[in-house]
Amino acid sequence: MKIFMDTANVEEIKSYVDWGVVYGVTTNPSLIMKSGRTQAEVIPEIAAMVEGPVSAEVIATECEGMVKEARELVKIADNVVIKIPCIPEGLKAVKILAAEGIKTNVTLIFSMSQALMAARAGATYVSPFIGRLDDIGVDGVQLVANIVTAFELYGIETEVIAASIRNIEHVEKVMLSGCHIATIPTKVLAQMIKHDLTDKGLATFLADYEKSKK
Ligand code: G3P
Repeated sequence: MKIFMDTANVEEIKSYVDWGVVYGVTTNPSLIMKSGRTQAEVIPEIAAMVEGPVSAEVIATECEGMVKEARELVKIADNVVIKIPCIPEGLKAVKILAAEGIKTNVTLIFSMSQALMAARAGATYVSPFIGRLDDIGVDGVQLVANIVTAFELYGIETEVIAASIRNIEHVEKVMLSGCHIATIPTKVLAQMIKHDLTDKGLATFLADYEKSKK
């Protein structure tokens, strides 16, 4: 499972790129707003920092506007992927963009039916939202697992990005489902490297080294 960062904060991305763990990045209008900058400012910087895909979301809600925005966004860099909401106009835009070789990430997916439709329209990626489903009492991790299983069953090549991840448990559970990618907020990514026994073990090793010095 590849690790993407779910943030538009360039400094945060830089730290984890330096760790060698981040392949791609996903953004959305809310994350751009939190960064305190504009999409036009951050996407080129992020695209230059990572090797893999960087999702930039369209704002238009009708097909023509989405396609127009997408064609401009992909000019920023080769690794820019267009994030499109899972609505009928969005599917129409995905079909047109796929025919032009423009990669799309269909977002705000909350059901297997939506995932299937996005994939059949030609989406490169689908993003089911785990945390927001958990919020309404639906098992988001299970939805990811079901989509991965169904796509495998039918030989669908669209990759699944587990999104709206809120904790390490979400990450570790989707790993077991064979999910292609998890897009992870910085706070959760920071927790993933931590274990009390690592810290305790290291402290003991260093103390013993001091004791063994001649
Ligand atoms: O990738 C989608 C993600 O940003 C949504 O997360 O926590 O706002 O549900 P959240």
